[in-house]
Amino acid sequence: MNNILEVKNLKKYFDVSSGTLHAVDGVSFSVKKGETIGVVGESGCGKSTLGRVLIHLIDNTDGQIVFNGKDITKIDRKELSNLRKDMQMIFQDPYSSLNPRFTVYQTIAEPLQIAGGFSQQEISERVYKMMDTVGLARRLVNSYPHELDGGRRQRIGIGRALILEPSFIVCDEPVSALDVSIQAQIINLLLDIQEEKKLTYIFITHDLMVVKYISNNIMVMYLGQMVEFSPSEELFEQPLHPYTKALLSAVPVPDVEHEKKRIVLKGEVTSPINPKPCCRFSARCAYAKDICHCKSPELIEVNPKHKVACHFAKEINGLE
Ligand SMILES: Nc1ncnc2c1ncn2[C@@H]1O[C@H](COP(=O)(O)OP(=O)(O)OP(=O)(O)O)[C@@H](O)[C@H]1O
Ligand code: SF4
Ligand SMILES: [Mg+2]
Repeated sequence: MNNILEVKNLKKYFDVSSGTLHAVDGVSFSVKKGETIGVVGESGCGKSTLGRVLIHLIDNTDGQIVFNGKDITKIDRKELSNLRKDMQMIFQDPYSSLNPRFTVYQTIAEPLQIAGGFSQQEISERVYKMMDTVGLARRLVNSYPHELDGGRRQRIGIGRALILEPSFIVCDEPVSALDVSIQAQIINLLLDIQEEKKLTYIFITHDLMVVKYISNNIMVMYLGQMVEFSPSEELFEQPLHPYTKALLSAVPVPDVEHEKKRIVLKGEVTSPINPKPCCRFSARCAYAKDICHCKSPELIEVNPKHKVACHFAKEINGLE
């Protein structure tokens, strides 16, 4: 098996004043080395929390994360610091994730200094090489984040994430804060680097066209749960979950012949605090029946690669 990551029944709950918030609630999937998994879903559905838990920036509440054959939810401090070298995150807003008092050099060099074991000479060589890799002119080495535009700031964030040569990267909305004109440059940079360094990506985004373009597989999340997981093309051709159908119906289609009817979701989004045992989409689902309001649907395999969590997925989609 060439799975770099296997996630089993992963949960992350937060204690809040009115109860327990189920930010990630029983998510299971696996990731092959070198592939990109796109993660989509509405704001607040748990995408960033999932990303943070996966690379151990925050502890999980329950479940397993097996990375390169080892359950990383049970590791000690020393192993965690080794893990940092192999798993990194690229954030949405490069401005708030960069230290404003650090120059480009200091920002990219810092992870090497924290990891230790590198001479000043080695650090300098690596930083300049990384600036070349991420397309930052060497003359900017002493610039501060506020002196640079959003695209360059994100290039610094990418350089900092890559400097320890990780194999697994969570990209959390890496282009959402950037001008549209710069978004494609950064996406293409991430794709080029992925190919060159054989990286594995979890790519979180609101932008369905981006996710279609870059992902091998796509995970659709709804209120902390995975409601559908499918190869990218298959998801766009045949979305099975009513929520996925609604989400994809909102994507503009360039080809008018294929114009789709937009599905407008009605009803309140259920609270992620102390959720009841039901389908969390039931309050907004046009296909909901009694069972949906009292029983949480299991994930079913429509084929070995395409999974969906809906009591009526087969009926709704005319599958046997
Ligand atoms: N530290 C925290 N303490 C309490 N609740 C939290 C915390 N972090 C996240 N949450 C809650 O967990 C849920 C998931 O949040 P998360 O940020 O993961 O969503 P998201 O899908 O990344 O949203 P967005 O698309 O807006 O970035 C939300 O209800 C959020 O309020
Ligand atoms: S389980 Fe029921 S409410 Fe949930 S998506 Fe399927 S039909 Fe809709
Ligand atoms: Mg987020």
